[in-house]
Amino acid sequence: MSFLDVRNIDVSYGDVQVIFDLSLKIEEGEVVSIIGGNGSGKSTLLRTISGLMQAESGEISFIGKPIHKMPPEDIVEAGLIHVPEGRRLFSLMTVLDNLIIGAHNSRARGKAKVAETLAKVYELLPRLQERQNQMALTLSGGEQQMVAIGRGLMAQPKLLMLDEPSLGLAPILIKSIFETVRKIANQGTTVLLVEQDVKHSLSLSDRGYVLEHGRIALEGPASQLLNDPHIKTAYLGI
Ligand SMILES: Nc1ncnc2c1ncn2[C@@H]1O[C@H](COP(=O)(O)OP(=O)(O)O)[C@@H](O)[C@H]1O
Ligand SMILES: [Mg+2]
Repeated sequence: MSFLDVRNIDVSYGDVQVIFDLSLKIEEGEVVSIIGGNGSGKSTLLRTISGLMQAESGEISFIGKPIHKMPPEDIVEAGLIHVPEGRRLFSLMTVLDNLIIGAHNSRARGKAKVAETLAKVYELLPRLQERQNQMALTLSGGEQQMVAIGRGLMAQPKLLMLDEPSLGLAPILIKSIFETVRKIANQGTTVLLVEQDVKHSLSLSDRGYVLEHGRIALEGPASQLLNDPHIKTAYLGI
């Protein structure tokens, strides 16, 4: 059994089905991208894996345990951490307090543990330490995304799921966000990266899945997908 195993899930909003018989696997230590245009079902898939939505059929298991019937807090407890699209920070709280909120599970809690993890997050994202006493709303978009990722890391993820971390950022910040993701992976965290930035995300991934209208249209090693004729024309514009 894989580290994360999603088998044949169907997901709907009311009567409208948006994910169809979708299966995917992630092995421990991998970086896997899910790419797809707007509305293809990427965020719905992540919300279903993290227990914020229920699949109507199919199964999801994480480290050998079924999770598709677990409440979101138990899924967090198991080590599966979701950094949602659009950052979702507490804008009137400081950077530091936003980070500390991430440490809200039994693996991450406790004064000593929080201090240790915080030091690691600041080492990875030094900018956050400089800004730690600033309110989140006073940060730039790129800095806010760093806080969202840092908050995810504070939870001691075994698998970190990132929903479009590069969305709305200037090219130079996009580069730095992807470099951060690479560093997180190099430090041993398994990463599921959902992105519309196909080139950057596949470039740092081991494997990828292409989601189109709620179905996996294509999957394979990232290097193979980057050279695939359909991906080149539909997503890379070459
Ligand atoms: N809360 C919602 N209620 C109803 N339909 C939704 C909701 N959220 C998303 N959808 C629909 O589900 C489909 C997939 O959306 P989403 O998962 O957000 O795609 P992506 O993240 O790839 O842009 C879209 O057709 C979208 O309109
Ligand atoms: Mg989305």
